[in-house]
Amino acid sequence: MNNFRIVLTEEQIQKRVKELGEQITKDYNEKSPIVICMLKGAIVFFSDVVRNLNVPLSMEFVRLSSYKNGTTAGEMEVVSDLKCDIAGKDVIIIEDIVDSGKTLSYFIKLLQEKNPASVKICAFLDKKARREVEVKVDYAGFDIDCGFVVGYGLDYAERYRELPFLAEVIDPSKL
Ligand code: IMP
Ligand code: MG
Repeated sequence: MNNFRIVLTEEQIQKRVKELGEQITKDYNEKSPIVICMLKGAIVFFSDVVRNLNVPLSMEFVRLSSYKNGTTAGEMEVVSDLKCDIAGKDVIIIEDIVDSGKTLSYFIKLLQEKNPASVKICAFLDKKARREVEVKVDYAGFDIDCGFVVGYGLDYAERYRELPFLAEVIDPSKL
């Protein structure tokens, strides 16, 4: 673990997830949103957030791929698409991290063609400084400005997703 620096502890994450759950519950009072988990990275955050929501909701899972391996971006691809009709529905997208913004701006364009009533984004991490395409995160867990991070769903070449905390990789070449 000496190539990792802890950025967020499990306690810090869980406290923030509860706050987000309360805020979203308040905002979606009297609504029944479709909550979309962006696989694979958002799975851990998603499962914590939905258990802190006190509104009738349904869950959907989408898998887009932009990072093929390691830390370099590859081609964008819809690996597994939505299986339900979102026309007239309130949609909340749950994502692990918004970095360049390319993944979510691509996905939101696809969603808008299906005429949802509303689309909001809830992301565990917002790396605003690295944005290349405009994407507004409505519910951000944490704004961060650091290097490549792993844990709490985020991976490096499919590893470290299971860590209950978030850590920055000090030297990616040593992974
Ligand atoms: P974007 O399209 O550049 O916004 O990238 C978003 C996706 O890249 C996220 O859903 C992650 O899967 C991945 N990603 C970006 N930064 C990191 C990181 O620091 N650690 C792990 N995955 C990352
Ligand atoms: Mg992702």
